[in-house]
Amino acid sequence: MQPITIFLWASLFLHSITQALCKEAAWNGHTTPGSTIPAPFTPYYVPPGAKSYDSTSPLISYKGTWTDHYSTAYIGKSLRSTSEPNAEVSFSFTGTGIEWFGNTDKLHGLAIVLIDGKPVAEVDTYSDRVLPLKQQRLFWKFDLELAPHIIKIVNTAKRPGAHRNTIIDLDAFIVTRGSPLIPRELDREYSAGFTKRNAGWTLNQQGTTGVHAMQLTIISPKHALIVDKVEHNPLTVDGHPAWAALYNLENNSVKPLRMKSNSFCAGGTFLGNGTLINVGGNPVVEGYTSAADFGDLDGLQSVRIFEPCEDDSVDSCEMYENHDRIRMASPRWYNTVIRIMDGSAMIIGGAKKGGWMNNATVNNPTIEYYPPKNIHGSNGTPVNLPFLTKTLSSNLFPIAFSLPDGKVFMAANQDAMIYDWETNTERYLPQLPNNVRVTYPMTGTALLLPLSPDNNYAPEILVCGGSTIDDKIPGYKMSSQTPASSQCSRMVLDDLGINAGWQVEYMPHARVMPDAVLLPTGQVLIVNGGATGISGYGNVVEQVGASNADNPVLMPILYYPSGAVGTRFSSTGMPSSPIPRLYHSVATLTPSGSVMIAGSNPNLDRSEVKYGTEYRVEWLNPPYMSQDRPEITHAPQRIDFGENFKLDVKMPNGVNSKDVRVSLMDLGYVTHAVHANSRLVYLTIVSSTNNVLTVQGPPSGNIYPPGPGWIYIVSNGVASQGKKVMIGSGKGPEVDQAAVQNILLNTAPNQYEMSNGKPKEDGSE
Ligand SMILES: *[C@@H]1O[C@H](CO)[C@@H](O)[C@H](O)[C@H]1NC(C)=O
Ligand SMILES: *[C@@H]1O[C@H](CO)[C@@H](O)[C@H](O)[C@H]1NC(C)=O
Ligand SMILES: *[C@@H]1O[C@H](CO)[C@@H](O)[C@H](O)[C@H]1NC(C)=O
Repeated sequence: MQPITIFLWASLFLHSITQALCKEAAWNGHTTPGSTIPAPFTPYYVPPGAKSYDSTSPLISYKGTWTDHYSTAYIGKSLRSTSEPNAEVSFSFTGTGIEWFGNTDKLHGLAIVLIDGKPVAEVDTYSDRVLPLKQQRLFWKFDLELAPHIIKIVNTAKRPGAHRNTIIDLDAFIVTRGSPLIPRELDREYSAGFTKRNAGWTLNQQGTTGVHAMQLTIISPKHALIVDKVEHNPLTVDGHPAWAALYNLENNSVKPLRMKSNSFCAGGTFLGNGTLINVGGNPVVEGYTSAADFGDLDGLQSVRIFEPCEDDSVDSCEMYENHDRIRMASPRWYNTVIRIMDGSAMIIGGAKKGGWMNNATVNNPTIEYYPPKNIHGSNGTPVNLPFLTKTLSSNLFPIAFSLPDGKVFMAANQDAMIYDWETNTERYLPQLPNNVRVTYPMTGTALLLPLSPDNNYAPEILVCGGSTIDDKIPGYKMSSQTPASSQCSRMVLDDLGINAGWQVEYMPHARVMPDAVLLPTGQVLIVNGGATGISGYGNVVEQVGASNADNPVLMPILYYPSGAVGTRFSSTGMPSSPIPRLYHSVATLTPSGSVMIAGSNPNLDRSEVKYGTEYRVEWLNPPYMSQDRPEITHAPQRIDFGENFKLDVKMPNGVNSKDVRVSLMDLGYVTHAVHANSRLVYLTIVSSTNNVLTVQGPPSGNIYPPGPGWIYIVSNGVASQGKKVMIGSGKGPEVDQAAVQNILLNTAPNQYEMSNGKPKEDGSE
């Protein structure tokens, strides 16, 4: 049982009475489930699987003078405080994470936190309030090794401007044990056949995301944007848990980002002018993370706008949202969003409400555009796409890539097609071989392989992983233990290639929910996922915790697209991870050239039961990270289609700038194994001297849809750091005001809530 907390503030008195009626374990707010009146929230939350230790616990030891205070508003009805300089509290625990809860007010001051004898933080517990804010999360750390640790908190009794000793207190500690780490012994299986080929790869764990990393994209040389769903994350904003954050790639610090609506499970893309849109989501999940606690809105029709933000401090970055002005015409959960050749966004499919497996009742078998287009008589409203009806049921988060002729490749369930959006026609391709399903919840991953002027940008698609489980049987007949697929299917999308059909290869390990990441070298890195089961949580038999998948695959694989068939996969010499990354994991290439790996959360809300909510970040470093690298010392900020531009470069000693390739990359918007917009286009080098490359911009928006990109140079397999550029005019896609107005006039915002009267209270999704 969780302690019941009561706010003593007069204005909140009524809320506190009703709150005592709530017995839901996952819920920790101050108002009854279903209430939408925002109320102050205490961050104190014990996720399932974690353990809370009250200030009076005999396992906690104190030095100096500490005083007990009693109130039903404290965790365990008691709190211990001190104003004595150098008074300290220490606590031994075994786990990967520790949280410290206590009060903040005008009399509070600075504390030093030490872990295993090492100072790790100075924590300021001051707030400008006379009445304390209670049950505040004062400190958290989730990236410790799973081992015994000691946390010690020392009162400095100081604070700038204070004229007497300041106070610190302890209300409770929460210990997170963390997912049981998978023994590194597993490495042996792979390292037995070690070859020099992959020597030099390293993996290290550094940083935590503060909000769980369900969606990930790189927004600037220094920052990544992380978007989650509404849940009890440790990072807070406006007094409630945050569900988006900006991650500093250089010093691993995180800043919460304010969000209005529930972004579970949205998609996203940059537009032609560099603005990012985050699209779709879920209604408010009442009873678990209610609107009254988090203040969130229904996100199903959301288009959230994130204007370009290169600012180092990211203080000015914000997510704009106003459903009366900007929204989709229809609700979408698990939609895919890509940028097409005119710099606008194509929003594909999804379900009209949260759920699991798609079905005819909730399916939204349409596409719409942002900004809205008047196309095929739609005047901004959704355009029917029969492919999304044909591919029921396992067809959410469809795979989609903009092709070098401007059309769009799509794969869903066992099918694939090329969609000509200008004529609204579907051209079906051969089915994926061997009954493999590749989209949610039978999630595989896909990439458009590097495009090169050498073969006139012939597009080739690679689809890997997924499952052969029948998507028409009920969840209780599926198991987390059914093997996933190890199949990769590859096809060149020209007439010859389509006639030849899918070429099948097998990964060394089966994977559902893999993430495939293009490297500047043209190789493909495959990480994350499970060897058995399928995506989602709470649906199949033999769940592990709530996870529908099991047997995490910890070993990365490298794929050499241009190698001879049968020799393209290699895991030898790659470092394996001890951290399982199942449902809701992500991975992306970063500007530095390393690969950021984060997330995993097969749970309704933050949980520490295997497989728990994972906040730790890992960095997988290709060998070039530790080699003598070429450098782009200057690149233009904007590059026009087909125009020549100059790159100032510095080559490593003895390397001729003639042996260089220039990779223009879109790092993609990553969620649910969909790497939307991920792209590598080799650019033509017109001429070169030792320090200057003259390079031709991509020929057109078909080859690289206008918008932001990253340029890397590569020599002898060694890649430089990436430089951010804008491809095209940098102007926004055309806005059809009539179509915008038509949507605002003729479709309703928040259609889900209206059709349901009130959202469901059981938190199911
Ligand atoms: C990280 O760098 C940013 C500036 O880029 C700075 O504002 C912030 O204080 C730094 N954080 C830490 C923990 O060093
Ligand atoms: C369709 O899916 C929704 C959302 O998961 C679910 O509530 C509904 O029961 C399903 N309907 C059928 C007929 O399976
Ligand atoms: C880019 O275009 C979009 C869509 O019209 C618009 O909302 C956004 O403000 C534009 N961004 C910039 C930086 O001009």
